[in-house]
Amino acid sequence: MPDLPDFQPLFQTRVLAQRGGVRSEAGEWGGQAVFVKTLLSDDPAAAQRFEHEGEIAAALDHPGVVPLLARRPAQLIFPWLEGQTLRERVEAGPLSAAEALEVADGLLAAVAHLHARGVTHHDLKPENVLLEGGQARSGSVRLIDFGMSHSRALALDIHGGTRMGTPHFMAPEQFRGVRGDPRSDLYSVGVLLFDCLAGHPPYADALGWLTGLTDERAPLPGPPELHGVLCAALSRDPAGRPASAQALRSALREAARALGLELERACP
Ligand SMILES: Nc1ncnc2c1ncn2[C@@H]1O[C@H](COP(=O)(O)OP(=O)(O)OP(=O)(O)O)[C@@H](O)[C@H]1O
Ligand SMILES: [Mg+2]
Repeated sequence: MPDLPDFQPLFQTRVLAQRGGVRSEAGEWGGQAVFVKTLLSDDPAAAQRFEHEGEIAAALDHPGVVPLLARRPAQLIFPWLEGQTLRERVEAGPLSAAEALEVADGLLAAVAHLHARGVTHHDLKPENVLLEGGQARSGSVRLIDFGMSHSRALALDIHGGTRMGTPHFMAPEQFRGVRGDPRSDLYSVGVLLFDCLAGHPPYADALGWLTGLTDERAPLPGPPELHGVLCAALSRDPAGRPASAQALRSALREAARALGLELERACP
């Protein structure tokens, strides 16, 4: 991981957002288009969160994860990905079963890599999934944003005891403050798959579901061949979900075969 030498400054930066003491920009660095996060806040807790995110991003290495190009205490530099977020894609209308299964497949390949490295993402939602070239295909999925993640390798769990996250996509146990259970990510992938197929997430009253006040779920979308695995991934009890990202991925590939769909490829 190269440090940022002075002779490689950032050029042509364009601010995209500024939130929580972090500025996101598009720019050019070392001759390539980049996405840059810069820590602006001098609050020690914000600096710690930023460092934590950088440590986790630096520890990952998978085609389905946007790689970290360079890092310094207040800056993270990633390659700029041309395409769209899964949020933008779903807002344009539900995906076909084939497209939704492709996206889930690519996402699960990346998630399996995280889990193998002891990392739980904890913020899987359509805004944090990029589709390179705008393609709803397994090999175009790129996972981003480790700002909420948990790593077994990092002694300090900076998010311990918090309920940060997005209610629609958050597993019930995560809402109760459980951190580092990989099955929480499998729940979120289940919600993402539901969202891709239906155009909306399963529970209109997400907080009601998370707190156990309601079980009222929208009708299961997509072909019935997917419903068993979709229901399992969405289990309130983590023990009812597939045992691993690979197991969920295999079950979806099996369902795809039953539907006569051939998924793009089996990326490692
Ligand atoms: N490498 C990239 N190339 C192009 N766009 C990107 C890239 N990384 C992130 N983005 C865009 O920037 C948005 C925010 O990025 P990210 O999720 O990493 O930041 P964040 O700290 O979570 O901010 P937010 O509060 O918006 O979620 C993404 O949803 C995506 O639209
Ligand atoms: Mg994000």
